[in-house]
Amino acid sequence: MDLFDDLPVEAAAQVLAPGAMLLRAFAWNEAAQLLQATEAVLAQAPLRHMQTPGGYTMSVSTSSCGALGWVSDARGYRYAACDPVSGQTWPAMPECFLALARRAAAQAGYADFRPEACLINQYVPGAKLSLHQDRDERDLDAPIVSVSLGLPAIFLFGGTERSQRPQRYRLAHGDVVVWGGPARLAFHGVAPLEEGAHALLGRRRINLTFRRVRREG
Ligand code: SIN
Ligand code: FE2
Repeated sequence: MDLFDDLPVEAAAQVLAPGAMLLRAFAWNEAAQLLQATEAVLAQAPLRHMQTPGGYTMSVSTSSCGALGWVSDARGYRYAACDPVSGQTWPAMPECFLALARRAAAQAGYADFRPEACLINQYVPGAKLSLHQDRDERDLDAPIVSVSLGLPAIFLFGGTERSQRPQRYRLAHGDVVVWGGPARLAFHGVAPLEEGAHALLGRRRINLTFRRVRREG
């Protein structure tokens, strides 16, 4: 694939559901900077395949930065201030992460987003994320901001009931999805990643998911 295959024709916002927006190419300009900052985070808190409470090993490898990190093991899903691998606090959230997350949230109608956690998910071809809700956060007023980098993926986005059939959206390098308000507990997932080679990331897709965990005030 050459460098310009993924070049956006025009940045556009698409409403996926009330409260949910796909901002195409929103992070295009800062993508290289985001990747550089991601590598710096991962040098301190390496990617790992977590265990689900049900005993499965996730096909996606994960890490985190910010005051809190998302962890999963036999005891369940939760947010923790320390990385269980190193015992150290998670790396600080890079300034460029925070700025982009806030700008995307505002663009989708969520002013003053103050994320505390950024989950870093890495997908290689074949990796997937089953349909789920993001509901380990106590603050459900804040939106979720999700940034796609590298290989394209098919994002599944459904309703707040598992029985609602999800729509499929192709997310490319630089695309950002924001969901909150009536869509905050929408079921979502990622179909198995297709083979490919991205100019910056090779056989990988990296997704940054920003969350506010604790209630403010
Ligand atoms: C997630 O739901 O945590 C990640 C979604 C994605 O990788 O696009
Ligand atoms: Fe999620």
